[in-house]
Amino acid sequence: MIVSNRVGTPGGTRTAGGLVVALQDALRDRGGVWVGWSGETVQGEPGPAKSLRRGRITYVTLDLAREAYEAFYAGFANGTLWPLFHYRLGLIAFRRRDLEGYLAVNERFARTIAELLRPDDLVWVHDYHFLALAAALRRLGVANRLGFFLHIPFPAPEVLRALPGHERLLRALADYDLLGFQTDSDARCAAEGLERLVGAEAVGEGRWRLGERIVAVGVFPVGIETDGFARLAARAADGPEVSRLAESLAGRALILGVDRLDYSKGLLGRLQAIAELLERRPQWRRRITFLQIAPVSRGELRQYRALRAELDALAGRTNARFADVDWTPIRWVNRNVPRAVLAGYLRLARVGFVTPLRDGMNLVAKEYVAAQDPEDPGVLVLSRLAGAAEELRSAVLVDPLDVEGMAEALDAALAMPLDERRARWAAAIAVLRDHTAARWRMRFLEALEATGPATGTAAGVLTRCAAAT
Ligand code: G6P
Repeated sequence: MIVSNRVGTPGGTRTAGGLVVALQDALRDRGGVWVGWSGETVQGEPGPAKSLRRGRITYVTLDLAREAYEAFYAGFANGTLWPLFHYRLGLIAFRRRDLEGYLAVNERFARTIAELLRPDDLVWVHDYHFLALAAALRRLGVANRLGFFLHIPFPAPEVLRALPGHERLLRALADYDLLGFQTDSDARCAAEGLERLVGAEAVGEGRWRLGERIVAVGVFPVGIETDGFARLAARAADGPEVSRLAESLAGRALILGVDRLDYSKGLLGRLQAIAELLERRPQWRRRITFLQIAPVSRGELRQYRALRAELDALAGRTNARFADVDWTPIRWVNRNVPRAVLAGYLRLARVGFVTPLRDGMNLVAKEYVAAQDPEDPGVLVLSRLAGAAEELRSAVLVDPLDVEGMAEALDAALAMPLDERRARWAAAIAVLRDHTAARWRMRFLEALEATGPATGTAAGVLTRCAAAT
């Protein structure tokens, strides 16, 4: 059984983040039950869970009361935990009633899940919306193996300490049997948080004891369906939508960004880097087009509305500064693009420009690599602060706060000779063929199955929180 706030229900049109993409890939062959939010809010008390079966997957979704949505989703999950876990303390809007609402939604999900569970089911819970779900399930007497995977970064204890009630959430994490993270650094931070902030004791083999409970901590970098995505991109390349984009470029090199419109994605710096490139390297004027696909996400939250206004203004100013009657450097698109078309756009792009200020993994970076034509691959320019940079060492790595540095990286990427592009791409695709979505799923579930008093070991893990990765 998989639990996540967003569920990739068939026919869903909303902006899929990395989580939904990864789970869709993971569930396709194994099948199972996927429990989460329906995406609907209702006035008054929500009705019972709805269930839908498609092939080997059963989707079970719950509506949220409007107040529960405000407190759980908009308030605590995305107004507090999201900025905190992305090291943006200045953006946090903490309210006690949001924390209470968050815990209440975790309890409600636990009641629904407890009714559905059979004794031998494995439960795999995803992301920061459900830090307290295992604790709620244990209170209901659930003894099943419970695993948790965090798709976003886990903060260092010094940062986590800023959160009122952090001890309670950390203790709740110890009610899982296995905690999985994207990178070594995240796992170290979580382990050190457990030790330093709530007194957990390391008992060896990547396991920690807190009171009666033993929790394993491991690193499981999320992957994509590499070969499947490569095929999708190759097929999309001749499709009408991709041809339309290709023709509109009139031979110019495409620099492409694809992100939910989120402050963690470094979109302001990215636009500034494009302006810097055109200012300092005038030879690229009229010879490039930067397309940023940035579907609006969490648009009701104050921080997101403010960011959107700032980005709109910056894109407009940059275009006004450099555009000619027959060329604008930036195409700023807030619409969502179907995955099959997006794969073709990624293949067409000479440069994949991925510059988050901090990101758990970033699957767009991986999809960009998978989508390339092996004979003539483009170049990935990637932030060092994305989890993906741990694996994609052959990308052109940049510091997302260094606008001049990013402009230089773009210049180098645009001018890069074919043999260097091929060599970098070959190194990256080899990693992605090895670290697939299927492997991620298998390694996590095997580690979860191996937990428990009888066998219990998990993937190798660490004791110190790295200051940087
Ligand atoms: C990230 C998070 C996911 C989340 C997605 C989209 O990928 O890790 O948990 O679902 O963003 O955000 P949203 O708030 O629209 O679900």
